[in-house]
Amino acid sequence: MPKAPLLAPPGPPTLTFRWDGAPVAACPGDTVASALIAAGELATSRSAKYRRLRGPACLHGGCGTCLVRVDGRPNQRACLTPVREDMVVEPQNTYGGLDPTALVDQIFRRGIDHHHLVVYPRLANQMMQGVARELAGFGELPDAPPEGAAGLFDHVPEVLVIGAGRSGRALAAALAAAGRPPLVVERRAAAALPAAERPARLLAGVGVFACYPQERLWAAASEHPPVLHRLRPRHVVLAVGAHEPTIPLANNDLPGVVSARGLADMLEQTGRRLAARVVVVGEGPRAELLAAGLGAERVAPARVHKLLGARRVKGVQLDDGKILRCDLVALAPDPAPAFELAAQAGAPIRFTGAGFAPVCDPDGRIAAGPAAHPLEAADAQTAPPPPWTLWAVGELAGATTPAEIQASVDRCAAALLRALAESPAPEDSHARA
Ligand code: FES
Repeated sequence: MPKAPLLAPPGPPTLTFRWDGAPVAACPGDTVASALIAAGELATSRSAKYRRLRGPACLHGGCGTCLVRVDGRPNQRACLTPVREDMVVEPQNTYGGLDPTALVDQIFRRGIDHHHLVVYPRLANQMMQGVARELAGFGELPDAPPEGAAGLFDHVPEVLVIGAGRSGRALAAALAAAGRPPLVVERRAAAALPAAERPARLLAGVGVFACYPQERLWAAASEHPPVLHRLRPRHVVLAVGAHEPTIPLANNDLPGVVSARGLADMLEQTGRRLAARVVVVGEGPRAELLAAGLGAERVAPARVHKLLGARRVKGVQLDDGKILRCDLVALAPDPAPAFELAAQAGAPIRFTGAGFAPVCDPDGRIAAGPAAHPLEAADAQTAPPPPWTLWAVGELAGATTPAEIQASVDRCAAALLRALAESPAPEDSHARA
């Protein structure tokens, strides 16, 4: 049965793709997640651990709950995948919303000893193993191996900016205005960035997954065949922003429970408007601002008894028994800096109260710290100094408001330009390895 649309399009939809065999209308600029949410389709996969239905939650590539199979390739993040005409998108492990593990629980009430289960005859054992793998796995393997070998590209930029959110774009613009345009790596597609603010030198659709001084930086593009990027910059600016942690509430993992900030950003990127009833859960000025921007009712987490629904969220039950019916619940917790790459690079880390952040000076320069891994600590005394200077900007550097973010960008850009002026570098190079 068609579901009620939750997001209104910015104009007449001009694209069509297939979701679970049925056509879904989409607009240019949509991701698979925004088009599915717009169509009221909230469940995209099932948790491999808890077996509960999952749907897009953070809406910016950070949580991995939106995994879908796209054109035969499993485990693609719906929130980062731009919609293309005629693409075939399938849910993973959802079994039409049914939970086969509930049946397993009924049959094996005292638990399963899988070492001795259906060992003989061999055919039955093979079937049992197949079912177990199906239930425990992450989707199905690709229909076909990639054509051609994976590509490897080497980049030696003077300055690398990781992240093209607000702070990354502003920093890239400030450096470009001074004649030193950095290379910017962004995991979203270029179309997800405002056209007027797109950095001139942009690697879009590319995620940095390793930041080790001894090995340089590694990034991957989810292309077909896959492409690896090895990056050896002199300055690395982390403009990776912050995560939206979840808020501990009963049923906070139901499809339709999303990040308020992710939802606001998605609406801004796609031009879509809310056509759904939304309740924001959060407190403080930031949550109030997000609720006002979404035009949604807001409740403090302490007032929430539980979220209601089975296959998707249906409402919020408050402690006094009152029920707020809704189609989406948008969580607005205090954000936690995305400190992971800084930690990989060996930066000293501090607790902020909401999460962890690298220790940096007012300009954003991150102090050289101990080795990232305890096993490397013994080598730390003799190891050569890091081949780059590491910087943090925006939310990772402790900024929270737009004014603080801009001030952080201005200070970092000025300090970086001073450092670049002191030691001119050879031309940037980019080549296929
Ligand atoms: S990774 Fe896609 S919604 Fe979080």
